[in-house]
Amino acid sequence: MTDIKTTIAMEAAAFETWLRHAAIGPGAGETDGGLKTLCEAMAYSLFAGGKRIRPVLTLTAGRLFAAADRVLLPVAAAFEMVHTYSLIHDDLPAMDDDNFRRGRPTNHRVHGEGMAILAGDALLTDAFRLLAGVSGLDADVRCRLVALLAGAAGSQGMVGGQAMDLFHEGSEAVDADVLWRLQALKTGAMLTGAVVAGGLAGGAGEEELAALEDYGRAIGRAFQVADDILDETGTLAELGKDIGSDRERGKVTAVSLLGLDAARKLLAETVEKACAVLAVFGSRAVLLQGIARYIATRRS
Ligand code: IPE
Ligand code: IPE
Ligand code: MG
Ligand code: MG
Ligand code: MG
Repeated sequence: MTDIKTTIAMEAAAFETWLRHAAIGPGAGETDGGLKTLCEAMAYSLFAGGKRIRPVLTLTAGRLFAAADRVLLPVAAAFEMVHTYSLIHDDLPAMDDDNFRRGRPTNHRVHGEGMAILAGDALLTDAFRLLAGVSGLDADVRCRLVALLAGAAGSQGMVGGQAMDLFHEGSEAVDADVLWRLQALKTGAMLTGAVVAGGLAGGAGEEELAALEDYGRAIGRAFQVADDILDETGTLAELGKDIGSDRERGKVTAVSLLGLDAARKLLAETVEKACAVLAVFGSRAVLLQGIARYIATRRS
């Protein structure tokens, strides 16, 4: 486990370095106050110390097919930018109304709601500009990647799940089917997309992409179940974000549906399932399997 943690940290650091040098947001020499503030608000959340799990997944999946870093890094960045936008909007008063994220006050608490909304909008939109322009990939692969990210992020993915999350907030009894669908969309879709994107960028075949998709779905479920458990059992210092906010807002979560013990059991089972579907890759899958196990034991 220590080894996999080190590997994940190294991949995340390489991603971080690349991202710092990427031209994201309005031009660096911009003097207009509005554009400067937008730039600051985007960077505030993008460089706030997220775990970078989605980029690490894209890089690790892509390396299975010997994809080059210069191709994988911008693809990974597009997923991380969309994910970061989703967190900025998720924290807004109109949604989860949270005060801390990635170890610092939430974007709207520092930049105001309007600028936080715009920073999210810009990260979302600029991600597609970045992805559509990745050099070293054929146009049809770039087109598939754009469709993959759109599907993971939009009404059939994360935004759809966030709509279910809001709609069912405060509901007394919600069916397990509803909860699993909600979580598959709000969290699973972007994690699955990030994994499959690595495969697509590396030229994986359809059978290999299907295995990556199955793995992504399983770790997506595991990741949100772990997140729900940590909302009950973690601390602000560990997680860098508010805890107990699910219970406070009456969210439908794996813990509210199953209780802590059953949620933990399900988490362990789901991780084993994620590892098993990678059998097609043999021993090459060891890092992706390690990431699945890390997801279940993480404290941050
Ligand atoms: C938080 O995602 C939102 C969920 C999908 C549960 P992460 O736990 O990956 O957040 P960061 O990127 O590390 O801040
Ligand atoms: C949000 O789920 C997932 C997103 C799409 C942003 P949560 O609302 O549980 O995420 P946290 O706990 O605030 O990170
Ligand atoms: Mg939420
Ligand atoms: Mg939230
Ligand atoms: Mg949560």
